[in-house]
Amino acid sequence: MKIAIDGPAGAGKSTLARQIAEKLGILYIDTGAMYRALTWKALASNINLRDKATLYELAVATEISLVYEDGQLRVYCDRQDVTETIRTPEVSRWVPVVAVDEGVRKVMVEKQREIARKTSVVMDGRDIGLCVLPDADFKFYLTADLEERARRRAKEMVKKGYKVNFEEIKAEIWERDKLDSEREIGPLKVLPDSIVIDTSYLTAEEVVDKVLSLITEENDAVPVP
Ligand code: CDP
Repeated sequence: MKIAIDGPAGAGKSTLARQIAEKLGILYIDTGAMYRALTWKALASNINLRDKATLYELAVATEISLVYEDGQLRVYCDRQDVTETIRTPEVSRWVPVVAVDEGVRKVMVEKQREIARKTSVVMDGRDIGLCVLPDADFKFYLTADLEERARRRAKEMVKKGYKVNFEEIKAEIWERDKLDSEREIGPLKVLPDSIVIDTSYLTAEEVVDKVLSLITEENDAVPVP
């Protein structure tokens, strides 16, 4: 079973993906965390984020792993736990600049395909249905109003102890969505076979129920030989 979940920032992809993985007993891969980990390392190494050759070298040389510990997904970059540090506003701001790079995308997509070759998986990101799992059994495109997405992101940040400026958060995700949608390689977009779900007025639980019923309906519809 391969399930792709794409969509803009704050649409609820990771909440959905985590729960679907748990309910179906399959692996969840947060591809955004991989781009974030590389961006964190690039910032920590003080390299020029627009220098293609250096970025590519960095992507090839960096070991990123997603590991489950006590039921929690943790992100390691060269064996250092970066689960929390990759969610800082600074990393969020720079990640689309790193993610636009052709070499970086090549390395990441290859790593992600490699994982999916071996196991059933639900992946969330921007180019999953388009590039990573073009033959996915299900492609979901989650979206929500910008205001609502910014509200959710602000709530998350407050919970983590950040002082937030709502207008700034709104501007940051608007800018990130624009860069992610307008890039040439692996852009965020609705595909002809995407199932689009607007989560603006749905609770996380309602989204999970909706997606699970779509998956089971479809699987039940397959005639048993
Ligand atoms: O959780 P949030 O929606 O803020 O974003 P994320 O899934 O952590 O992804 C962070 C950034 O990584 C995105 O804005 C993209 O720039 C990049 N990304 C990507 O280019 N391709 C993916 N498959 C996943 C993330």
